[in-house]
Amino acid sequence: MKLTTYAQIGALLLASTTAFADSHEAASEEDAQLMIVEAALAGGDAAAGEKIFKKCKACHMIGEGAKARTGPALNNVVGAEIGDFEGFKYSAGMVALAEADEIWTIENLNALLIKPRDFVAKTKMSFAGLKDEQDRADLIAYLAGFTTVEADD
Ligand code: HEC
Repeated sequence: MKLTTYAQIGALLLASTTAFADSHEAASEEDAQLMIVEAALAGGDAAAGEKIFKKCKACHMIGEGAKARTGPALNNVVGAEIGDFEGFKYSAGMVALAEADEIWTIENLNALLIKPRDFVAKTKMSFAGLKDEQDRADLIAYLAGFTTVEADD
């Protein structure tokens, strides 16, 4: 059952690779391809991730028409430049990561989700973190499914 899910995510990401690479300056097509492999390796289940995303909904929107709330909207965030949501007032710690041209790779997203405060100095994201590795993998697989949604700008 899970294998089907990975295959579906992989196919979805593969189909959107070109559009994905086009919509983010820093993410080349090769980067996007690599992330598809990483997402599959991480063993995430997007359907399970949707349930975990409830913990994020207090502050984040995702999907069609998503806008910034307490936190930025999370469409296309997998593979995007860190701190790149236009008009959002990020913390100094996020701005520093953005200036260092850091990317939301699977690895960086995982690190953020373990404990936001450890990944971003004095972050404005007041969220304790997700201790469970499978929860993080599922959530990242869910986020990766939103690489095809048109940006609002
Ligand atoms: C209490 C509000 C809150 C909750 C809950 C929360 N976040 Fe955040 N998130 C924020 C804020 C605020 C920022 C901007 C952080 C900064 O500037 O330091 C952010 C930033 C992010 C970013 C970086 C986005 C970018 O534009 O670079 C990601 C990815 C993210 N959050 C994912 C999540 C996920 C996934 C969850 C659920 C597990 C979650 N957040 C829960 C408030 C929240």
